[in-house]
Amino acid sequence: MEFVQKSGINIPKLGFGTWMLEGGVCLDATHFALKTGYRHIDTAQIYGNEAEVGQAIAESGVARQDIFLTTKIWRDNVSAKKLEDSLDESLRKLRTDYVDLLLIHWPVDEVPLSDTIPALKSMQEKGKTRLIGVSNFTVSQMAACVDGLGADLATNQVEYHPYLSQEPVLDYARAHDMFLTAYSPLGRMKLADATIREIAQKHGKTESQIILRWHIQQPDVVAIPKSATSAHIESNFALFDFALTDEEMARITALTKQNKRLINPDFAPKWDAAA
Ligand SMILES: NC(=O)c1ccc[n+]([C@@H]2O[C@H](COP(=O)([O-])OP(=O)(O)OC[C@H]3O[C@@H](n4cnc5c(N)ncnc54)[C@H](OP(=O)(O)O)[C@@H]3O)[C@@H](O)[C@H]2O)c1
Repeated sequence: MEFVQKSGINIPKLGFGTWMLEGGVCLDATHFALKTGYRHIDTAQIYGNEAEVGQAIAESGVARQDIFLTTKIWRDNVSAKKLEDSLDESLRKLRTDYVDLLLIHWPVDEVPLSDTIPALKSMQEKGKTRLIGVSNFTVSQMAACVDGLGADLATNQVEYHPYLSQEPVLDYARAHDMFLTAYSPLGRMKLADATIREIAQKHGKTESQIILRWHIQQPDVVAIPKSATSAHIESNFALFDFALTDEEMARITALTKQNKRLINPDFAPKWDAAA
């Protein structure tokens, strides 16, 4: 496994995403991911699966401190008044006293960041999370947190795959001691490309492995693919016995100019234009 570091904490560059995993499927998939060797798990209040993730961790035999666990505060709970109670509920479901990373899931226009961010920071001060961060924030929203409100953010979790550039967010993150967490790293398997197919054939790897290797080979980038399928959970983890050449990395990065965004709900912010 390879890691990024923040505040002396090692974060595995490959995590396990759990959106859309529910009930027994989530329990089985998370069990299998831990057995396979994943030590970084991404959940959220809105996924409705924190209890199953918590159960899988508790039953896994893997020590809690050996797992990097992220959850996210849903839009209804980002006010200072609600944030802590909602996190306490998440911690109960996750069967733990702390998460490793607590994210604000989406910016919420109706609640000022000057309300949310101090509440988020206080969760870190109280030891309920080791690191704090945001998700789906634009560069100006990141700056409002970091430069404006003095938040030591670890990450911005955003959609990032070979069909969508995140250059502005990545540049800001790198300049501010943050990493980028790539969600929907496989483009939800809805996008395909001849370049990636060709590189996959050359390496004798699957297209998914090439895409995920592209993510983790970039400095300061972490990827969190989701899968309910054992064979995919295993193959997505088998990324550490080969490397892409600089030329292959550049060819894949060139594809991001297509700017095919998959996650864009009506409450999304006005996204940064690609550089
Ligand atoms: N912060 C946010 O707003 C946000 C938004 C979206 C996602 N996320 C996080 O990011 C995680 C990943 O994103 P995602 O679930 O949207 O998409 P993704 O990981 O890009 O793609 C998941 C899809 O790819 C398939 N898949 C996975 N590995 C495969 C393989 N090796 N070969 C073929 N198909 C494969 C999965 O099917 P199988 O299950 O059958 O393998 C599933 O349909 C989420 O689970 C969640 O934790 C966060």
